Amino acid sequence: MNDMNNTLNNTYNFAEELIEKASKLILKNHKKIRNISYKKGDSNLVTNVDKEVEALIIKEIVSKYPNHSIIAEESKAQKKDPNYQWFIDPIDGTTNFAHSYPFFCTSIGFVKNNILEFGLIKDPLTNELYSARRSQGAKLNKRPIFVSKIKKLNESLLITGFPYDKRTSKVNNLKNFCNLTLLTHGVRRDGAAALDLCYIASGKADGYWEMKLSPWDVAAGVLILEEAGGKVSDFKGGKYNIFNKQIVATNGLIHKELLKHLK
Ligand code: IPD
Ligand code: CA
Ligand code: CA
Repeated sequence: MNDMNNTLNNTYNFAEELIEKASKLILKNHKKIRNISYKKGDSNLVTNVDKEVEALIIKEIVSKYPNHSIIAEESKAQKKDPNYQWFIDPIDGTTNFAHSYPFFCTSIGFVKNNILEFGLIKDPLTNELYSARRSQGAKLNKRPIFVSKIKKLNESLLITGFPYDKRTSKVNNLKNFCNLTLLTHGVRRDGAAALDLCYIASGKADGYWEMKLSPWDVAAGVLILEEAGGKVSDFKGGKYNIFNKQIVATNGLIHKELLKHLK
């Protein structure tokens, strides 16, 4: 094994330990009273726990890799070496967390030389760790996972989400949600984009779409989905990158059919 692989292995192992620490901190605070405040918009929440978990993650990355860039949801981006970028969502599913609805996670994605190299997503309540390393497949708690084999949209279960400006913008996904609810077995709105992607990656549902996401929502999940055999694109079927606002992520088999119905 060459030096480059060794370095990446070390970084991956560091990230795996880090996400476990983040998960413990979330669990410790899960049942306690949370201090909730609003960001932009009237439904965009943040809690003290989001900030504490993010501070922990950033502190550890900075002390181990002082030159790496960090793009995390609750802080100003630390733009350092552009060849090493961490994308962090300390709690994806903050609204759920704030209401004690049990569906949220931590997401850590690592990009080297503009290539997604690994992704880790941890659900602290179920103790499930979804992970992927480029060209090495996707795993759930160390076991390989794969997308579903459903071939037809009308036999599929989908997942989606709604943007935080849903009350003020007409581009709020409600029409897509109504149309696709009638065309499929159902559409779920679970409330954590990163975990939603893991649910497609592990075959619990067959397709996912959303608009107005940020790179920390999707960096880890997109790699996990692709490594599990899934397909990801924008709404027109074009090449996807984590800075795209729109995402369509499926088992591959229903991708074209789903695209036909997204506006
Ligand atoms: C949100 C969740 C939600 C999605 C929103 C995201 P947050 O992230 O992933 O499912 O619909 O668009 O912003 O705010 O809980 O980290
Ligand atoms: Ca998020
Ligand atoms: Ca978040």
